[in-house]
Amino acid sequence: MFVLSSKTCQIWRLSPGGLAIAETLRLNEHVNAEQKLKLARFLDLSIDTLKSGYRSVMYNYHFSDDGAPSAAAGAETGFSPADIAAEITSCSGCRLGKTRNKAVPGEGAEHPLVLVLGEGPGAEEDASGRPFVGPAGRLLDKMLASIGLSREKNCFIANTVKCRPPGNRDPELSEIRACAPFLARQIEALKPLFILAVGKVAANRLLRASPGQNGDEEPSPEPISRLRGRFFDFRFPGFRGDPHPADSVEDSGIRVLATYHPSALLRDDSLKIPAFEDLKKLMLRLAVLDEGYRQESRALMAKYAAKDPVFAAEVEEFLS
Ligand code: URA
Repeated sequence: MFVLSSKTCQIWRLSPGGLAIAETLRLNEHVNAEQKLKLARFLDLSIDTLKSGYRSVMYNYHFSDDGAPSAAAGAETGFSPADIAAEITSCSGCRLGKTRNKAVPGEGAEHPLVLVLGEGPGAEEDASGRPFVGPAGRLLDKMLASIGLSREKNCFIANTVKCRPPGNRDPELSEIRACAPFLARQIEALKPLFILAVGKVAANRLLRASPGQNGDEEPSPEPISRLRGRFFDFRFPGFRGDPHPADSVEDSGIRVLATYHPSALLRDDSLKIPAFEDLKKLMLRLAVLDEGYRQESRALMAKYAAKDPVFAAEVEEFLS
């Protein structure tokens, strides 16, 4: 909890003995309402990140010299995808911030059905500041198009880490954790129906990462072949997913589906068929949950059902 006036900022903590001032910061300059909000969010974010590795909840703020709280106090201002992108662009929260050319916050629809989550920017993304614009990105666009999705219309594309790991190495745990609050905030702001995690890094982050509390260790990563093709419920905080009952499609929150990374498909053709199976599962569930998508993807679904009796039976079961 923060009490911020134009000259002081107090950080209050709830401890077993009750509420206590943990720290008082004296500010050199008068700060206006917008600066107060930014500072509070920054401190809040930093403390949560240091404490647990994640920021899981969006707080409302009221400042002691701002007058009585109004209905608008603490409203979601500053938490739009564009605001989060602006923070990402100027972030220096880990060493990737020193070596990147451009941070890559992500791009896509404002109210996406699907948040597609990759690993981290490569060379072309680092140069352009846009996600998935290289060869893997072109394949990703085709994969999405195969089930009636696109970044222009109904997806948002982002990465687990927002800055390029040098030489395209895997991002390190400390880098992934430093970026995790941004990812959490993007998920909260975008509220997708599904998150499609492409590749091992994104899938492990969403489905197996430790909440990082009480000194929890991160579990060792699972190969993507073990995580893909099943739906999980997405959980804040800590992103630990529980398997979603396979035969249940009711809408109770955000679901995660993992599949192979398009770069893996570029290296190994044999992964294309299982990846397409995963995409068809996503297609079916999207059609169940979203009327607009159901109408628009009807022809595509009929085409796939004509070639795939198992899919045809599922379409019949879920959509008839
Ligand atoms: N691979 C990723 O995981 N993300 C990108 O943005 C590009 C390639």
